[in-house]
Amino acid sequence: MDKDLIDWIYTVSQADPKHENGGVLGSMTTPPPPEALKIVNHFISKNLGDPHLFKSLELITEKLVSLTRETLGLPPNMKGIITSGGTESNILALYSFRESLGVKKVVLTDVAHYSVLKASKMLNIYSEVVQTDFSGKFRPDDISKKIHGPSDSLVMTMGTTQLGGVEDPREILDDLNRVPIHVDAAFGGLTFPFINPEKFHGILRALISSGTNFTIGVDFHKFLGAPIPSGIIFVPEEIYPSLSFDVNYISSGKQFGLLGTRPGFSAAAALATLAYYGLDGLSKRAKLAYENTLWFLEEAKHRGLGFPVNRPEVPIACLSTDELIEREKLLEELAKRGFFVYRGEKCRGIRVVMMPHVRKSHLQRLLKAIEEVLISS
Ligand SMILES: Cc1ncc(COP(=O)(O)O)c(C=O)c1O
Repeated sequence: MDKDLIDWIYTVSQADPKHENGGVLGSMTTPPPPEALKIVNHFISKNLGDPHLFKSLELITEKLVSLTRETLGLPPNMKGIITSGGTESNILALYSFRESLGVKKVVLTDVAHYSVLKASKMLNIYSEVVQTDFSGKFRPDDISKKIHGPSDSLVMTMGTTQLGGVEDPREILDDLNRVPIHVDAAFGGLTFPFINPEKFHGILRALISSGTNFTIGVDFHKFLGAPIPSGIIFVPEEIYPSLSFDVNYISSGKQFGLLGTRPGFSAAAALATLAYYGLDGLSKRAKLAYENTLWFLEEAKHRGLGFPVNRPEVPIACLSTDELIEREKLLEELAKRGFFVYRGEKCRGIRVVMMPHVRKSHLQRLLKAIEEVLISS
C-alpha cells in the first residue's frame, strides 16, 4: 500500500473551501447528516442497478419513491426512478418524451439549467430558448407562440439555478395544446413546497387536472443534504416503459434510467436523510434559509452593496453588482478572503445559495467582506 499517496489525498483536500465555516456559498452542496454517512458505508459495494440481487435496495427505493410522491402530492400513477441528480433527470425526461410521445422540439427559457440544452443536444431534440426579462420572468406569449403541435415539449423550472424563480406553467397551460411538460424541480422540489405550499400545490393541481403528460425531477443531494449522487424523476405510468432497458445478465432482466452500475447508497442514504430531519425539520430548514435569503438581499441593498433583481421564491440570492465593481474582480477578492460565491450571470453580479450550512453569521461576514472589497477598489 502506498501510504504516502493515501495521505496525500487527504492533504490535498485541505485547501478546499469548507462548508462548515461558511466558505461554500454558491454551490448547491452541503454536509450530509451522520446517519446518512453510516448508510453510505453500509451500502458502499451494493449496486442499485441490480435491485433483485440486493433486494433491500428494491424495498428501500419503493419506500423512498412513495414518501417523496406523498410529500410532493403526486398521483399514484406517477412512477419514480432514482437518478444521479438533475442532469440525469432532465435527460431522462426528454428521452421519454421523444421515445413515447414523438417529441422533436423542446422550448425552455434562458434561465433553465444548462443541462436541459445538454440533454437536447445529446438526444438530437431541437431546442428553442425564450428570453426572460432582467428578473427572470417570461412573457406567456413568447412561450405559447413557439409551441405548435404534438411534437413540441416544454421545460419549466421550479427554483431557477440563476435567480431562484419559479416558472409557473398555469400562465400558459390553456394555450399549450397539452404538449408534454418537464418540471425541473432539482432545487425547488424540496424547498418550494415548504416555503409556498399554496403555489406549489396549485401548480401541481393544475398540471394534473390539465391531462398534460408531465414529469418532475427533484434532487435529494441538494437542499435536503443527502450524499451525492441522489435524485428522482417521476413520470406518468404510460411513458415509464420507455425508460426501461433490457439487460440479459441480471435477474430482473431490465434496468431503468441512464446509469448501469450505480451507488446503492443513493436511495438508502436519501431515505436516511429524510428520516433524520423529518418533513417538519426539512420544512423549518427551508423556511429559515428563505428568510435569510430575503434578509441578505435587503441588507445588501440597504448598505449599498448591490441591487436585488427579483424576489426569489427559493433560497437563492442574486445580487447585481456590476454598477459598483467588475464582477470577476469581486469574485476573486471574495475568494481571497475565503468566501466562494458563484457568478450571477443573469443578474450581472454574484449568486449565493442559502444551503442549510449557511448561517446568518456567515452572511453577515460575507456582507462585510463585500463592503471591504468595494471600499478598497
Ligand atoms: C434547476 C437545476 N436543474 C438541474 C441541475 C443539475 O443538477 P446536477 O448537477 O445534480 O445534475 C441543477 C444544478 O444546479 C439545477 O439547479
